[in-house]
Amino acid sequence: MEIDLSGALMSQFKKAKKEYEMAKEKNNLDIAKKKALECAKLLRLMAKYDEYNEKSYLEKAKKWEMVANSISNPSKVNKSKPAKKSESSNTTKAEVEDEIDKFKNFVKNNLIQKSPITWEDIGGLKEVKQLMMETIVISALQKPASIQPWKGILLFGPPGTGKTLLASASAGSLEATFFNVKASSVLSKYYGESSKIISALYDVAREMAPSIVFIDEIDALTTKRSEETSEASRRMLSTLLTELDGFQDKGRDRLILTLAATNTPWDLDEAILSRFSRRIYIPLPDKEATKEIIKINTKGVKLNVNLDEIADKCVERFYSGRDLKNLCQEAIWNMIRDVNKDLHELAKLPYNELRKRKLNVRPLTNDDFEEAFKKIKSPLTKKDIEKYEKWAEEFGG
Ligand SMILES: Nc1ncnc2c1ncn2[C@@H]1O[C@H](COP(=O)(O)OP(=O)(O)OP(=O)(O)O)[C@@H](O)[C@H]1O
Ligand SMILES: [Mg+2]
Repeated sequence: MEIDLSGALMSQFKKAKKEYEMAKEKNNLDIAKKKALECAKLLRLMAKYDEYNEKSYLEKAKKWEMVANSISNPSKVNKSKPAKKSESSNTTKAEVEDEIDKFKNFVKNNLIQKSPITWEDIGGLKEVKQLMMETIVISALQKPASIQPWKGILLFGPPGTGKTLLASASAGSLEATFFNVKASSVLSKYYGESSKIISALYDVAREMAPSIVFIDEIDALTTKRSEETSEASRRMLSTLLTELDGFQDKGRDRLILTLAATNTPWDLDEAILSRFSRRIYIPLPDKEATKEIIKINTKGVKLNVNLDEIADKCVERFYSGRDLKNLCQEAIWNMIRDVNKDLHELAKLPYNELRKRKLNVRPLTNDDFEEAFKKIKSPLTKKDIEKYEKWAEEFGG
């Protein structure tokens, strides 16, 4: 998810508004006026960056300017409450609707992703792929009401093993709307708004079904990790749990599948686990999967290597899919540098001249990989893997 300027402005606005209210309460009129002007200024900026809500932001900015103006005459301010409250209650409803629209637009503009990934891009993980395909097919087929597919699937395992890849592929294969939400980044960027974002997210997912909602790093929402989980993450979690229970979806036959991923499943609390009754272990690739992933990541280049030997070495070193991708890239670079001496010299040439030339390539050799092995280190140890396996045995399935 990209950094969203209007989101950052919104939190500044909220802060300024709160400070205005506090100043107002303490009858600190100078500061109240300054803060009201700041609110107006921020709203005008937000209008610039958010064309969907431009009109409503500008209207609100005007109201704040009126509030600020009225403060220059203290007696007037004392009589008339803050402009917002003196407006009749019919604006409140419009404002609430405005706000809902604003969050839905935010979701549509920021959290929906096109997924170009297909099942063929994933090496190994045969059973997992099959299970996910089945789930998706079952939800699409006509069926008796009593047959319900999984609504939530938890993918857990070491970093870089293909969890995000699997979520993208399931959306890509179905041409479903794919919502990609990183729990930690929604929390840190949109703090107080994160629970509203989640409920807008599921509103939009229902509108645009079939939908796959992918919640990455779901452990960020856990209450187990520390005693004092922030209020914002607690609220975000409880909204998410309600949506996962899916009351609003009863009797409807449309796919809204929530996939969640974590590297630290032991951090998850019961409330989350109980919603994801299907929990799938995404392990490090075994020898066969390693060979497949190497082939996927060296497409278009010939392999003149002892693949079995290389794969054994990778498994021994606890390489994840991500490590394998990096290994292949390193090996390819070694080959390119070998057969294109002084490549950087060509940087002097004009672009048009470069377009006429061809990069030299040759098949990859064991030596290219030997060199690459020196650079790629997995952070995992045998002990780490055992921890995942133990959790999988106890809670997976
Ligand atoms: N099974 C796999 N097949 C092919 N490529 C893989 C596989 N697993 C990982 N990769 C490669 O590693 C990269 C990272 O994988 P991915 O983002 O899916 O890992 P992850 O499990 O979500 O990791 P993290 O827990 O760190 O988020 C992918 O973009 C892909 O290039
Ligand atoms: Mg991931």
